[in-house]
Amino acid sequence: MNENERRTAEVTERDLSEVRKLIEERTGILFDQSRERFFSTRVREHAREKGFASGAELLKAMLRANTEYEAMLEKLLTQETSFFRYPAVYQALEKRILPELQIKKFWNNPRTLRIWSAGCSTGEEPYSIAITLLDTLSLADAWNIEILATDVGRQALKIAEAATYSAQRTLSVSEAQFASYFTKVNEGQQVKPRIRKMITFAQMNLAQAVYMGRMDLIFCMNVLIYFSEEKRNALIQRFYDTLEPGGYLLLGHSESLSKVPVKFQAIVLNECILYRKPLPGDLQQPELVTEGRA
Ligand SMILES: C[S@@+](CC[C@H](N)C(=O)[O-])C[C@H]1O[C@@H](n2cnc3c(N)ncnc32)[C@H](O)[C@@H]1O
Repeated sequence: MNENERRTAEVTERDLSEVRKLIEERTGILFDQSRERFFSTRVREHAREKGFASGAELLKAMLRANTEYEAMLEKLLTQETSFFRYPAVYQALEKRILPELQIKKFWNNPRTLRIWSAGCSTGEEPYSIAITLLDTLSLADAWNIEILATDVGRQALKIAEAATYSAQRTLSVSEAQFASYFTKVNEGQQVKPRIRKMITFAQMNLAQAVYMGRMDLIFCMNVLIYFSEEKRNALIQRFYDTLEPGGYLLLGHSESLSKVPVKFQAIVLNECILYRKPLPGDLQQPELVTEGRA
């Protein structure tokens, strides 16, 4: 343990509140009562490890230098994820969404599919999407597929780009998928270049609007639950504007758009809800459709 680690930074409630406000303003991430303990422990640990004498000093450094701000932010991100995290979502992609898009785009030349994994963490989500596309699309090579995977966390993106995962982290990948899409390397299993080149990883803060062209599908799973209501509503409006008519928004299991003033059509299919941006002619259709078990 070095000298800095032994020093205990004095971090007051006021300092915590200022750090919380800064992170919320810049990223939309809210640390409410339920996450207060996680938040204060991480801020205090970080201040101690970095050798700041006080919370005020930490805050000053965060305001002065983006690297200091990002170093603190990295410690506060929740980046839990896994391959095929919600099997029902990938089944819906295979059985419902892709067949519909194949029909819709059949005569398009080039036949392009643009997908955004917003809040992709360490990459398991965009890789699962790419694997599902290759397993499902007939004549996958005839498609021009672009998957954009973004996250605010640089460390997570580095792991995503390295594309190498331990056996423990790939338990939900089937034998057949392993054989087709992974190679054994010293550190674990690496996703093959064929899949990797379908995905572009980029650092992006969802609280700041960036123009990225129209998307057919947006996956934003387990990100909105951490957002303030104001930022969440603004982001959902942006997702709506970014989607092609007939495009889909997919959220995590504990997230819904029930209180959001944006006109998606909600399709309940087995264990998931698909949010579809209506086509112009769909406007008379019901806002809620149940197609499988709720
Ligand atoms: C719990 S993970 C979810 C990962 C994946 N979507 C899933 O469901 O398995 C949430 C991710 O959202 C990212 N995130 C949080 N706030 C963000 C923001 N303002 N802009 C971009 N990414 C953000 C975090 O860094 C984290 O990687």
